[in-house]
Amino acid sequence: MSATLITNIGELTTNVGGEGDACGTIRDAAVLARNGLIAWVGCARDAPSPGSDTKVVDAAGRAVLPGFVDAHTHLVFGGDRADEFEARMAGRPYTAGGIRRTVAATRAAGEEELRGRLAGFIRELRRQGTTTVEIKTGYGLTADDEERLARLAAEVTDEVTFLGAHVIPPEYADDRRGYLDLVCGPMLERCAPFSRWIDVFCEDGAFTEAEARRVLAAGVARGLAPRVHGNQLGEGPGVALAVGIGAESVDHCTFLSDADVALLAGSQTVATLLPGVEFSTRQPYPDARRLIDAGVTVALASDCNPGSSFTSSMPLMIALAVREMGMTVAEAVWAATAGGARALRRTDVGGIAPGMRADLVLLDAPSRIHLAYRPGVPIVAAVWEDGERAV
Ligand code: NIG
Ligand code: FE
Repeated sequence: MSATLITNIGELTTNVGGEGDACGTIRDAAVLARNGLIAWVGCARDAPSPGSDTKVVDAAGRAVLPGFVDAHTHLVFGGDRADEFEARMAGRPYTAGGIRRTVAATRAAGEEELRGRLAGFIRELRRQGTTTVEIKTGYGLTADDEERLARLAAEVTDEVTFLGAHVIPPEYADDRRGYLDLVCGPMLERCAPFSRWIDVFCEDGAFTEAEARRVLAAGVARGLAPRVHGNQLGEGPGVALAVGIGAESVDHCTFLSDADVALLAGSQTVATLLPGVEFSTRQPYPDARRLIDAGVTVALASDCNPGSSFTSSMPLMIALAVREMGMTVAEAVWAATAGGARALRRTDVGGIAPGMRADLVLLDAPSRIHLAYRPGVPIVAAVWEDGERAV
């Protein structure tokens, strides 16, 4: 394999060390990638002289940062719900009910169609600097359909989450217990080989705390690690449940009591905030400032899905977090990179240090500030994934 030396970097965000600078910023920096991994990081003037196998890239004073780690998406589905979005913008509230429409469209979709759309979404998010993505099932809700979604997701990422407990599908409307038996039994068996995580939508209109506990326990017994959708539509038991079982992440956290914040602060559980949802459903944004000031680890993710947040843009999440959620630029960029890695229990991504994967983003801007300062502008100039130029 060849090597790449990116030099003349005006501002390098490493996320390593940095007393008072969680972003571990290095000015006038260089990065050497070899065999897919970071081999050297430091000031450009100290960079090792490039060998004959080394491609040299002149960043021309622009900013480089780790590839974004999007720790929460639902990217395998059929159809869309543009009509629902339009109605919502005209005043109709968001409920979880629309999920069943996507379930019907996904069941009806052919495998090649789903694979092709997924590939399109992967291209789309890569162009915006995302190099690690978690993908959930949850729009199949039969053992066959959920397995199909888990298998397709596993073709493009190691971070597959089994979300059979997304909502109760219509054919089980009068038999919740029967559906939970299916999720915790045959469906889990079929999906576990393709999955690393198990998730449950613990919310009014979806699953109760007792049901969520049962699903997560079944997944853990099958070797999957738990994560939870909670506190999205109102205060509820999601956070306490996630912290209680030692989940890596509880996602949404839009409506939190003081007790929820204290529980998170005293735990290793990451609060993964999904501002695309609040943007697209016109809900109040989660109070990231309150969480960070209490000592909670915060991640930002897109929640890309056809209902509540049909965007895969991590730069947009950063812009929203800074504009609407009280995060500093440095906190938001850290949360979209290192924070996402924490939420996925990954130590090989989300930072730039020797031995980590060479997943890098070059901005067409002198500083990461421009991610929030220039919302909606395609400022990602280049992306390297495992040391290879991907964009
Ligand atoms: O994260 N909360 C549950 N699932 C998705 C919504 C999915 C949908 O509306 O289709 C979410 O917001
Ligand atoms: Fe979600």
